[in-house]
Parts: sequence; C-alpha cells; structure tokens
Amino acid sequence: MTRRPALILGIETTCDETAAAVVEDGRLVRSSVVRTQIDLHQKFGGVVPEIASRAHLECLDAIIAEALERAGVKGPDLDAVAVAHAPGLIGCLLVGLSTAKALAFAWNKPLIGVNHVQAHLYSVMLDDAPPHDGAPSPAPALPAVGLVISGGHSSLYHVRAFDDLKRIGSTHDDAVGEAFDKVAAILQLGYPGGPLIDALAKQGDENAIRFPLSLLEKGSLDFSFSGIKTSVLYHVNGKQGRERDATSLSIRQKADVGASFQRAAAEMLIEKLRRAAGQYETHSLIIGGGVSANSAIRGRVMELGRELGLPVFIPPMPFCTDNAAMIAGLAYPLLLAGKVADLSLDAVATV
Ligand code: KG4
Ligand code: ZN
Repeated sequence: MTRRPALILGIETTCDETAAAVVEDGRLVRSSVVRTQIDLHQKFGGVVPEIASRAHLECLDAIIAEALERAGVKGPDLDAVAVAHAPGLIGCLLVGLSTAKALAFAWNKPLIGVNHVQAHLYSVMLDDAPPHDGAPSPAPALPAVGLVISGGHSSLYHVRAFDDLKRIGSTHDDAVGEAFDKVAAILQLGYPGGPLIDALAKQGDENAIRFPLSLLEKGSLDFSFSGIKTSVLYHVNGKQGRERDATSLSIRQKADVGASFQRAAAEMLIEKLRRAAGQYETHSLIIGGGVSANSAIRGRVMELGRELGLPVFIPPMPFCTDNAAMIAGLAYPLLLAGKVADLSLDAVATV
C-alpha cells in the first residue's frame, strides 16, 4: 500500500518577508509564496519593525490562501501547520504565530514551532520540481558544519541531524548581511545592499584595497564584522568618517571598494568554516541565508569544499533568502520526532 505524502503548511513572518508554503514530505515544494516588503522600508534604509508587523497583518491571510491554492491543497488535507516562532522582530513573529495557532486550532492539526535560523540550513533539502527519476536530490551526509549568513545572523552550527543542531559560533557584533547593507549605504548604492555590492563588485578589483580581517583569537569560531565596516567608512569618507563621501568616487573606485570588501568578508567566513571543519566531525558543508546568494562567497565555499574534500550544499537561489518552504520543510523531521507544540507556544525574539 502506498503511503499518502505528508503535507505541511509553513508560515514565515520573522522580518520583512511575508511568506507561506506547502511542502510534501519535507522535500518537495508544492508552493512557495513570498511577498517582500522592501518597497516599504527602502526610504528608511532599513527595516522599521512597526511597519513590518502591520504589513504582515495586512497580507498574511491572502498569502496563505495563495500558497494553499497553488499547491492544490485545502486546510483539512494538511498534516501540520508550522510557523517560524524564533528568532525575529517580536511584533512580526506574533502575527505569524497567532495566525498559525488559529489555523491549527480551526483545522485540528498539530502546530510546529520552527527556528528560522536553523531552517535556513534546511533549505538545502528543498526540491522545487518533482524529481525526474523518482528520487529526490541528494541530501548532505551528516554530521555537517552549517553556516547561516543573513541580514540578522552569522552563525556556525554542528548539524548532527536537522532536528539536532548545536550552535558553535556566532557574531560578536554585526551580521555579515548587515555589513553588506552598511557598506552599500556608505557607497550610496541603495537598500538592501548585498545584491547591489555583488553586482558592482563584478566590475571591480578585489585586490585593490586590503581591508583588515577580524579573525578573533586562535581557534575562535565567532565572527566580528564591525571593524571592516568602519575601515570601509574611513576609506570612503576620510579619517573622521565625514571629510568626504562616496560622491567623490568614480564608479570604478566604488566597484574596487565593493569587491575588496566582499573578498575580505568571504575570507573571514571561509577561515571560520575551515576552523569548524577542523574541530568537529564533518562530512559536508552546508551554507544558507540571504548572503549565501552572493556569487563570490558561493565560489569561495566551493573552493574550500574541494580543498577539504567535502561536498558543499547551497540552497537553490529562491530558498537562500527568507521563505516559508524552509519552515514547512524543517517541520517534517520535527513532526516525525514528535516535536509538536501546543497553543502556549511563545514567540522568542532572540535565541
Ligand atoms: O536571509 P535573509 O533574506 O533575511 C534574514 O534572515 O536576515 O537575508 C537578507 C540579507 C540582506 O542583508 C541582504 O543584503 C543579503 O541577505 N543578501 C546578499 C545577497 N542577496 C541578499 N548579500 C550579499 N550578496 C547577495 N547576492
Ligand atoms: Zn532569514
């Protein structure tokens, strides 16, 4: 007798993307709907929490309805409702969490609380099209070292299983995506800065400027990105940070700054990955989060994988940045392990 596949609805509202998705057996993405709020926050140069939570409230119901419709699924057909309940902006988390609780209660389905950062690593398990030969794409051999690089997080994990992760490194100050966004602001490129620097850096020389690398003490798996951000500020705006600004630079000079910063950021990440793989049992390297969309960083991680003889797993592009398929996906092993929540599940801003 063939088993009916498990269908999980995922809801994601941790920051500035409102998203819902339906994933089958934790792998096949039946639908993934993402509404970004970039247009609402652009003029402020960053995410405004109150605007973000209000925007989630206004569109989440319609996004969920669209995800169900595209997947050809009705609420009662689901096996569980999953929600990113941590970490994130508290008002934003509450919108997703209250909605998930209401749906789980109304449809009488298990409710599953998912950690957003850990879900970024699970993104490598997602397939966005049914497998041609009936077999899903290969999954990473575990234990693995996982690196989450996003606008809010730069964290290293030892992934023993996707529902058994240990954080082994995190940032002392800025997240790497935040550093990309701040450097883009210094260069007056716009927001969000990561993709703009990625594109601009292609026209620049990554060896033009030697920005200092902060690697912290020997063996440390933590990160620090505030020093490099300040070095870029002094380089562009002068020693006091306000003698001049990016308007005094040619496009070529801006591209050199962007490329040199990107190379330094990539080197810091790679060194920490190399250290982690040396300290923990590692059969593969997994990278996730918005910054894993960066072409230079992807290239360097692939090189490191070849150097260490480890396969590298990076999510398909649409699942690098925030999405709900990763939430519905990670909920599947949690459901199988009986890690189900009840209606007292809390939203947690930092974990
Ligand atoms: O994972 P994500 O969508 O949201 C968070 O959980 O924070 O990551 C957003 C971050 C932003 O800082 C954005 O600038 C960065 O990912 N990003 C990139 C690229 N695409 C997005 N950074 C560098 N290069 C890219 N191509
Ligand atoms: Zn994220």
